[in-house]
Amino acid sequence: MARSARRQRAARLGRALFSGPVVPADSFREDVIAGLSLPQKALPPKYFYDAQGSRLFEAICRLKEYYPTRAELALTRGHIGAIVRFARKRSTLIEYGSGESVKSQLLIDALRPSAYIPVDISDHALRRAAAKLQRLFPWLDIRPVHGDFSRPLKIPMAHAKGRRVVYFPGSTIGNLTPDEAHAFLRMTRGQVGPDGAMLVGVDLRKDANLLHAAYNDARGVTAAFNLNLLARINRELGGDFKPRRFRHYAFYNATLGRIEMHLVSFARQAVNIGNHRFVFEAGESIHTENSYKYSIDGFRALARGAGFKGGKIWLDPKGLFSLHGLAAV
Ligand code: AVJ
Repeated sequence: MARSARRQRAARLGRALFSGPVVPADSFREDVIAGLSLPQKALPPKYFYDAQGSRLFEAICRLKEYYPTRAELALTRGHIGAIVRFARKRSTLIEYGSGESVKSQLLIDALRPSAYIPVDISDHALRRAAAKLQRLFPWLDIRPVHGDFSRPLKIPMAHAKGRRVVYFPGSTIGNLTPDEAHAFLRMTRGQVGPDGAMLVGVDLRKDANLLHAAYNDARGVTAAFNLNLLARINRELGGDFKPRRFRHYAFYNATLGRIEMHLVSFARQAVNIGNHRFVFEAGESIHTENSYKYSIDGFRALARGAGFKGGKIWLDPKGLFSLHGLAAV
């Protein structure tokens, strides 16, 4: 790629770590080369989720330190009646994500949507989840969409009878900067239309020690998840990263209200990917993920600015995690 094109791509990437096109097969390579060319080296977190990364993420969700998965499930269980009253029975449910989780099943079971449209970048995850849901709910009209929900997306609305509700659990929205989250909510608001709604899971600000533990688990699963990104670059792009020469580093940036994950080079070293060469100074890092944490009012204000009424908020018993029911203004 020409140098200026590369720099442009790098700038775009710096602005939108989370977004990216649906696979031209080479976009992984281009995003990696561009990200490692930035002054603060960075890689988009969506590339964590190859087969190995998805397995490691599932292991993270079972860790005792990683509270979000359990907290969100508990709040969904505890408030399912009110959540369904808000979303309204027989709405069309559009899920950003494959719908593999137990909380999705709880919601589908209680809501009885007239159609269920899961959207996911992984065709494999999408098929697997759809097959499972079809077995569990034979009555369910499932219309999977293979695509990247972080960009404007054509959803086959012919199947979307009645009210549209977008379900976006897991605090994946935390991967976006607040500016990106604003744009993303606006786009979703356009997608659901004037009568539509959104259910979005949002992790909350809390004691920094709890946050730190959730991203620095004792068994090192999060470290393995983070380092797998380098192994994936080696596997798929023929890179020569030596993952043992990097260490996982995650901390809570209280000023910005976010967990930052990095991979820090132990020593000065060079890494080759194809004919690109990247030099790391000792202590230099690759920024691999942001995970923003919101206050209830902070997220509400963000949603309001994007065209949603601050509707309902549900919390788990410990007040760690929130589900926002947003109605289009
Ligand atoms: C899937 C983006 C919500 O930010 O907590 C877990 C990913 N990274 N441990 C999060 C993640 C490290 C997770 N999200």
